[in-house]
Amino acid sequence: MAGLQHALALNKDLNQRARERFTSSMRAWVLTDLAAQMQADYEQASIDAGESHNSGEAVHQFLKERGLFKWYSSLRCATQELVWQSVLRAIESDPDSINHVNTATSPTHGGSLALDEKVALPAYSDTMDVHLMPGNYQGGHSQGAEAGVVYDNGLDVFSFGVMGKNLDDIGHSMANFTRLKWPDLNPKLIVDVGCTIGHNTLPWKQTFPEAEVHGLDAASPCLQYGHARAEAMGIPIQFKQALCDALPYSDSNVDVVFSSMFLHELPTELIRAFFNEAHRVLKPGGVLINMELPPNDALGAYDAFYLDWDCFYNNEPFYKNFRDLSYPGLCADAGFAKQDFFQATMPRFTYVSEAEFAEASGAAASFDADTGRLSDTITWYAFGAQKSGDS
Ligand SMILES: C[S@@+](CC[C@H](N)C(=O)[O-])C[C@H]1O[C@@H](n2cnc3c(N)ncnc32)[C@H](O)[C@@H]1O
Repeated sequence: MAGLQHALALNKDLNQRARERFTSSMRAWVLTDLAAQMQADYEQASIDAGESHNSGEAVHQFLKERGLFKWYSSLRCATQELVWQSVLRAIESDPDSINHVNTATSPTHGGSLALDEKVALPAYSDTMDVHLMPGNYQGGHSQGAEAGVVYDNGLDVFSFGVMGKNLDDIGHSMANFTRLKWPDLNPKLIVDVGCTIGHNTLPWKQTFPEAEVHGLDAASPCLQYGHARAEAMGIPIQFKQALCDALPYSDSNVDVVFSSMFLHELPTELIRAFFNEAHRVLKPGGVLINMELPPNDALGAYDAFYLDWDCFYNNEPFYKNFRDLSYPGLCADAGFAKQDFFQATMPRFTYVSEAEFAEASGAAASFDADTGRLSDTITWYAFGAQKSGDS
């Protein structure tokens, strides 16, 4: 476990740390060792049955009755619930942590927080515990920023140390990929849509200090916490409560529209509306970049099944529909020119040398078992498009 290293991290006694380490280690074991056993079991069992499967759904149906699949699924659900429970216990034993966040909203480092009471988290998200997180992004018993505290500390336990110091490796990877791929971009305005607590928003400001960086989200508790967190870390970010299908910018004003692990939580029509908005607000030459899981059409049947697991067992109902879409098609339908589509796979920026990162992220996207699969060797996937002058 990396352990959060910023000033708003919860105070944790030895028991709490042990509880979290247990949960993280158990998840790491399930997602690496047990997952490998389940795959080996599948490979042997499908040979024995004389079957081959050409889609993730077919693999899923075949595996459903097998013991290892059931064991893997039960333990993944149980450890996912433990992630949130362990953090809620820490909050209960340190209620001052929430009070501290709720009162730490006056800007000291140039950041801001603009909440809009007319904006609400849409029902598709607000009516369920997304990825089994109690109370989703609004917070169960909604004490101001509590949902943000739960998310930050929970993601730290969830990711067992593979998402970087303060959970910001995706942001660093995407921002540096952008810097290397478009060296003349010189962005003035960068917008992270669906930023939650801004953990992947901050690296954009660190990478492009001259730019104004905005973090947008529908959920005010997460934004409130994200603002306090960014200020505590001394990084000025402008947080705004806004919806992805009504971006609060006039046409051709933004240099980079970024999203991370966001699209798979949206119904398809909203993904399309967001892409239309991104195209509208981007300047000619501006870039839409989305970090996500790779599309099903880039993967073999087993990997497609494996990465869609969350859709069926982790309250992520839109996951598979999203990953079944054509990513180039999504960009083209929003008005980006076909030739301006890009996709890339890359190592984690904060875990490798810059030269290694530059070489790997500049090569053609290569998909393997590491791409998008939460493990020590995970590689990130990104796709999007640059808005050309005439698109
Ligand atoms: C999985 S989280 C995003 C995670 C984050 N970007 C990261 O890098 O880890 C999804 C976020 O989208 C927000 N959200 C959901 N629907 C939205 C919408 N229509 N407009 C803006 N934000 C939305 C939720 O409040 C939540 O914070």
